[in-house]
Amino acid sequence: MTHTNTYIGTSNHGFAQYAQDEIRKLFPLTKFYLLVPTEVFLFEVPAEIEDPIAVIKEQEPMFLRHVQPVTQEFEISRTDADIEHLKGWLREAFQAGLILPGEKIATQVRKDERADVPYAPFSIKAAFDEIIVSEILGEPVVRYSDHIISVYISAAKLFVGLSKPSDNLSDWSGGAIRFMKEQDQISRAKFKLLEAEQRFGIDFSVARTALDIGAAPGGWTSLLLERGLKVTAIDPAAMSPRLLGNPLLKIHKKNAGDVKLRDNEFDLLVCDMSWDPRQMGRLVADLLYSLQSGGTAIITVKLMHKKPFQTVRDILRILEPSLFLLKAKQLFHNREELTLYLQKT
Ligand SMILES: C[S@@+](CC[C@H](N)C(=O)[O-])C[C@H]1O[C@@H](n2cnc3c(N)ncnc32)[C@H](O)[C@@H]1O
Repeated sequence: MTHTNTYIGTSNHGFAQYAQDEIRKLFPLTKFYLLVPTEVFLFEVPAEIEDPIAVIKEQEPMFLRHVQPVTQEFEISRTDADIEHLKGWLREAFQAGLILPGEKIATQVRKDERADVPYAPFSIKAAFDEIIVSEILGEPVVRYSDHIISVYISAAKLFVGLSKPSDNLSDWSGGAIRFMKEQDQISRAKFKLLEAEQRFGIDFSVARTALDIGAAPGGWTSLLLERGLKVTAIDPAAMSPRLLGNPLLKIHKKNAGDVKLRDNEFDLLVCDMSWDPRQMGRLVADLLYSLQSGGTAIITVKLMHKKPFQTVRDILRILEPSLFLLKAKQLFHNREELTLYLQKT
């Protein structure tokens, strides 16, 4: 029950094949079975690989948003017996010492919309939470858990697995990270930078000055201002009136190619220009003189023409050696994009 080489991987809709390509590169003889076309898949890593998750964490695939182990699977009976099987599994895991009394346990249940079962995912979580409280003497939580129990209800089977949150790549169910929409939020794009902040573990408040290229209407700029940074925003389009007059904000209402900045003026550079990636890369490269050595950059890359690996290689060729890549990841809030996290050499 402890050792598994079977996992469920999740990517953004349309990107599963790329996540699979990346996994196949790590573990060449991996077998894949699609659960939800282009999005969710089961994969079996060759048995001789001892700790696949350690390898996945070390060389994290860009398009693998979330991974959960499958420690046991059950045929679906489409009756409440399914829930009894899962409860039996949880009791066994506790008896085997895989879950300890007092632990915080998050139960995450996902269901393929084609799975025709009479019970709601929430009833599985409720049944588990009852056992966690009354038998395990643990604490059911939503986040910041010691363990996550992941249940996936597919059309034919139930899959269940137990893992540490960090081993799932994201501690959100399926990696679908949700932020509260603020009442006066300037743009949905703000979620991308919020997610990058969490996913890459960035502390924006240690930076002092940021350059935001392609800033309008100002969602990213507003987040950086909230974190206490001085921001220079470049965009020929208009910034939200809500930001105008902020003493920490300087706006260049221009094309990024027409702006002159000071050398080493910034310790953070962000760019969310929804544009041809190579042209965007060249524009950013031309402004890198304004980023201090050791400064960081967060750049959204539009994945045009569906050749994501080539696009990332091309853009890195333009940005390196001035910047080196810390991480490339397709975030949940990226659509046909991915996000690069880089540092100036
Ligand atoms: C997706 S929007 C940015 C959204 C922004 N990050 C936010 O949070 O509100 C892309 C922006 O890039 C700008 N843009 C495109 N080409 C540009 C260029 N050459 N120079 C400056 N800005 C550019 C567009 O005008 C547009 O406002």
